Amino acid sequence: MPRSGLAAALVTMLCAAACGGSRLPPSDPQMKRGLELYSDNCLVCHQASGGGVADLQPALMGSSKVAGDQATVVRWVLLGSEAEQAVAGRRYQNVMPAFDHLGDEDVAAVVTYVRQTFGNGASPVTPAFVAATRKASGSR
Ligand code: HEC
Repeated sequence: MPRSGLAAALVTMLCAAACGGSRLPPSDPQMKRGLELYSDNCLVCHQASGGGVADLQPALMGSSKVAGDQATVVRWVLLGSEAEQAVAGRRYQNVMPAFDHLGDEDVAAVVTYVRQTFGNGASPVTPAFVAATRKASGSR
């Protein structure tokens, strides 16, 4: 990683520890990377607005899973819906793929982006937290 990237990552981690549930500015490196990743990987299903598409995939806007427990949403993104959804029957026609091919920094960035953007400023997630959750969930 170039030095500037390392410095940015450090600032992000410090902010994640210190800033709690407050809103990160759009210029924050995790938010910028998160927006890129969301646009490339999630937008096609969950839409730019986070509003989802009726019957196909849920809205992320206003979702208690997005804004709730960090480990739950990180596990969900790593493992996808087949692995993680409750057995109570499928509410949506689409299936969400696993995103365990993304690295810890990228998962942290996209989860932080959706929590901040669609989750009313829910707390950012650090790459270290993603790494620990990945290990605990038996994911790659
Ligand atoms: C192929 C379409 C598709 C893509 C791409 C996709 N998702 Fe999903 N997502 C779904 C579906 C379908 C569900 C609901 C699955 C269910 O509950 O059975 C879902 C559910 C979710 C949930 C849980 C919402 C709730 O309230 O239960 C989160 C969080 C989420 N997706 C985040 C993401 C993120 C972040 C990305 C990109 C890294 C992403 N999704 C990419 C289809 C997709």
